Amino acid sequence: MADPGRSFLAHTPEATEALGYWLGERVGAGSVLALDGELGAGKTTFVRALARGLGVAGPVTSPTYALLQTYPGRLELAHFDAWMERRERSFLAEGGWEWLGAEGVAVVEWAERVSEWLPEERLAIEFAHRGAEARSLRLRVLGDGPRARALAELVAAIPAREGLEESTE
Ligand SMILES: Nc1ncnc2c1ncn2[C@@H]1O[C@H](COP(=O)(O)OP(=O)(O)OP(=O)(O)O)[C@@H](O)[C@H]1O
Ligand SMILES: [Mg+2]
Repeated sequence: MADPGRSFLAHTPEATEALGYWLGERVGAGSVLALDGELGAGKTTFVRALARGLGVAGPVTSPTYALLQTYPGRLELAHFDAWMERRERSFLAEGGWEWLGAEGVAVVEWAERVSEWLPEERLAIEFAHRGAEARSLRLRVLGDGPRARALAELVAAIPAREGLEESTE
């Protein structure tokens, strides 16, 4: 499936959060979200809002210095950060990959660094700086199968809103 995906321009952090929250409220069990984008591009900001949408109550910290953090919610959220690539790789290689695409929702920051360990069916989101307050978010569904189709339906249904503009880039 060659999914053309959708791109948005989030004019404020709140717009990025609105998208994360919207997806968190709706994303299905076994979904894997693969986030990429340079430092400060908004990956963790997005994940925090996604967690709220999933009904996670407590604080969501950046997992940069922890391998993985899990949070109970409507579905369990597993938050990975592959910034420390080598450590993540050995974890995934030793069976941690089974966490991904299991029952809950798995979100991986710096996903490109561990892409060979990620399930093919996933939602890839690329974040990029567009000035101090704006970020571009490019969403693409990868792989083929029921999970990819469910993710593609979800992406197709994302409503544009104030501050979150559909873009053609
Ligand atoms: N439109 C926007 N969307 C998201 N964050 C924004 C936006 N505009 C400004 N910001 C700010 O940019 C920063 C993004 O930081 P965040 O930790 O989410 O990035 P990150 O991609 O996870 O970085 P790292 O790779 O270092 O973990 C926050 O301080 C946030 O307030
Ligand atoms: Mg981060």
